[in-house]
Amino acid sequence: MTMTGDQAGSRLRSEAPPQADTSRPQSSMDQIEPLFPIPLMRSPRLLGSALIETAVAAIRQVRVDKNLRSDQLFHTEIVNPRDDKLFHEIAELTVPKLVEFGFLLFGERLRWTVKEMWTNVLATGGSQTLHAHANSFASGVIYLTPSHPACKTVFVRPPGGFDFSFRHHTRQAAMGPFNAGKYVLPVAEPGDLVLFPSYLYHEVPRNQGDQRITISFNAIPDSLDCWGYRINFTP
Ligand SMILES: [Fe+2]
Repeated sequence: MTMTGDQAGSRLRSEAPPQADTSRPQSSMDQIEPLFPIPLMRSPRLLGSALIETAVAAIRQVRVDKNLRSDQLFHTEIVNPRDDKLFHEIAELTVPKLVEFGFLLFGERLRWTVKEMWTNVLATGGSQTLHAHANSFASGVIYLTPSHPACKTVFVRPPGGFDFSFRHHTRQAAMGPFNAGKYVLPVAEPGDLVLFPSYLYHEVPRNQGDQRITISFNAIPDSLDCWGYRINFTP
């Protein structure tokens, strides 16, 4: 896990505070509660090599549209996985992961549907600007090619508002889940999946390596129920 401030990356320091009294019994040790954390699930090697090869070949053949903000980023059209055999097969693999991830979001194993998928073809020099996914609860990225270490997906701490803010981000400062401004995903291998709440902003820095292909998707549960206030969702 790599936590960074806005610029410098630093490892979380784990040494004990200087005044720690080691004579205290274990039961009276201080405890840190990680209140209200945001889940992100990494599932290495969800796709096997045969499926990855098939997907990459298919994506390289279809028509792609240029991204509005980067000339080196291309997308295939949005696909409903029910209408496309290859995307359907890939979507089916993600569903059990979505059910477990959804358990973290909503506390129950709900029925999840991948409602749309698309591909991102990032040429050398291309980047993906900061964005989140609307009209969706869980989103995912499946990596199909190796990524240059410079273009790991970056997730950004949700801004607290529109007021002044104060931070202490220095080269010496230890970065951890409570103060980091960004979370940089470790290098993703072909076949890896990452799931995150759709509201979480993310970006991909400039690609300094070869063409990088990923599949993105959005998913929804069939319904949510808040003490009888029920709402159903359909793609
Ligand atoms: Fe995205």
